Amino acid sequence: MSIFSRLFKFSSQDMAIDLGTANTVVYVRGRGIVLNEPSVVAVETLNGVKRVKAVGEDAKLMMGKTPDSIEAIRPLRDGVIADIDVAEQMIKHFITKVHGGKHSPWRAPEIVICVPSGSTSVERRAIRDAASNAGASQVFLIEEPMAAAIGADMPVTEPIGSMVVDIGGGATEVAVLSLRGLAYTTSVRVGGDKMDEAIVSFVRRHHNLLIGEATAERIKKQFGVAQPPEDGVGETIHIKGRDLVNGVPKEISINQGQIADALAEPISTIVEGVRIALENTAPELAADIVDQGIVLTGGGALLKGLDDELRDETGLPVTIAEDPLTCVAIGTGRAMEDPIFRGVLQTA
Ligand SMILES: Nc1ncnc2c1ncn2[C@@H]1O[C@H](COP(=O)(O)OP(=O)(O)OP(=O)(O)O)[C@@H](O)[C@H]1O
Ligand SMILES: [Mg+2]
Repeated sequence: MSIFSRLFKFSSQDMAIDLGTANTVVYVRGRGIVLNEPSVVAVETLNGVKRVKAVGEDAKLMMGKTPDSIEAIRPLRDGVIADIDVAEQMIKHFITKVHGGKHSPWRAPEIVICVPSGSTSVERRAIRDAASNAGASQVFLIEEPMAAAIGADMPVTEPIGSMVVDIGGGATEVAVLSLRGLAYTTSVRVGGDKMDEAIVSFVRRHHNLLIGEATAERIKKQFGVAQPPEDGVGETIHIKGRDLVNGVPKEISINQGQIADALAEPISTIVEGVRIALENTAPELAADIVDQGIVLTGGGALLKGLDDELRDETGLPVTIAEDPLTCVAIGTGRAMEDPIFRGVLQTA
């Protein structure tokens, strides 16, 4: 490491944080992404006193497997903050982890946080306070679709309309951007979580088998498809869970055609959200979108065939951002680093 970069590293711990309902991603100025962990906190209650037991990856491993005294909490749900106290603990934990306990000798860091657009002003204030308490000198907030669009290299500073669809864990946000502003935004409370739930309920209804969210998520990531396979069946997979009738563990098999059936409802809600946004877009901007197409970001964009489904349903070109899971954090980081984007940062 050169003296220059050592000094640079020393003086600069400015951070950009994508506080997502499923994952929290942290970007440090000049270094890029340094942390990417599930937004999960395991809280232990002993003699009425609550204590954080694990955060992030370690806490997610405990989900659905905790004894009565421990609860694995996702403080953000459905694109909003469900438990502000736990959210605050989580933010502090991640900031401290990135800091490595060291404080810059020159100045306290600046922090930019990307918040779910469904969060209220009270929640936003609480998030700002959490970051301030964790040692930030200044806290800025940024709207998720704006961060997603910047991260996906879309022409947000130009007088060109473009559409981003961010499919996260809790929500799907659809936005039309132009000249550093959100010309139109809408969000539906359907994202990866609702897809997982759809798989859980499909397996329960059709096979009397109870499976956990974590299992459903694994199935979705490995075998999930937004459109039925060509032969209607595709691959067949085996799933283990608990039989609802006699209570014992058992294994069943389902195929990708059935998974496509299970996912049809949440996917049609997402398509509907996109359609509504297109209908509400001013004509000049709509004309640009015909050329620019729609860009998908967020982990949900990785669902196989979702881009094809949106292409078929809208007739527009649809592309997936390069790294959908970190796109928002990268955009938040760029908004912090590049003065051209300063206008999109919010102080309240
Ligand atoms: N390969 C994949 N196929 C389908 N879904 C996936 C895949 N990889 C990740 N996901 C899903 O993406 C979601 C997480 O995406 P992301 O990290 O963008 O959400 P988030 O930013 O935390 O949530 P939000 O933006 O709603 O607050 C999870 O539901 C996860 O299951
Ligand atoms: Mg997100």
